[in-house]
Amino acid sequence: MKAIAIIGSPRKGGNTEVFAGHALKAIAEQGIDTELVRLAGLDIRPCNACMACDKEETCPIKDDLLPVYHKMKAADAIILASPVYWGSATALIMALMERTGYIALHNGRAFTGKVGGAMVVARRAGKSFTFAQMNLWFQPLGFFSPGSTYWNVAIARNKGEVEKDEEGMRTAWNFGKNVAFLLDKLKV
Ligand SMILES: Cc1cc2nc3c(=O)[nH]c(=O)nc-3n(C[C@H](O)[C@H](O)[C@H](O)COP(=O)(O)O)c2cc1C
Repeated sequence: MKAIAIIGSPRKGGNTEVFAGHALKAIAEQGIDTELVRLAGLDIRPCNACMACDKEETCPIKDDLLPVYHKMKAADAIILASPVYWGSATALIMALMERTGYIALHNGRAFTGKVGGAMVVARRAGKSFTFAQMNLWFQPLGFFSPGSTYWNVAIARNKGEVEKDEEGMRTAWNFGKNVAFLLDKLKV
């Protein structure tokens, strides 16, 4: 079994990566393979509504999306993590969600039955909105989403500050444990 966390920050080594990486460590502790997938540096453009994915499991936009889509398809659990930018998830992760969600939906509902959920970091405001915004993606795609001991949100501004948010880090850890628990319950 494999769990991946997709990091929607354009900043490598930032708080979102540390926060979601902590959940991955909790998952790995249960003997499940994990991978952190950074979108930073990748060219991922928004959906242009060409509807090509209605007919074929692909996207004609020539950028870096498809390898990430195939990693998502192969994973048993998908965590999507984003910093808050202007009260919202980043454009980078929203572009990924638009396109991978549509490709999966129109090609045998490819994400159905996977485990997943959102994780969000902000300096101050927009955490709950962004968490809700990102979780809207999981439900119609047929994911099973476990809870934690709080919403999966953390407070941090400069790189590394998230480690000081003790409750946030504990929430990430407990979320990871619940992802692993659910994966174990769902395995056939
Ligand atoms: C363009 C931009 C917009 C931001 N907007 C918000 C915001 O609306 N609310 C907030 O609390 N923090 C905001 N921040 C701060 C980031 O959410 C915060 O620094 C976060 O820790 C960055 O995560 P990262 O280190 O993974 O990149 C913004 C940062 C940038 C660069």
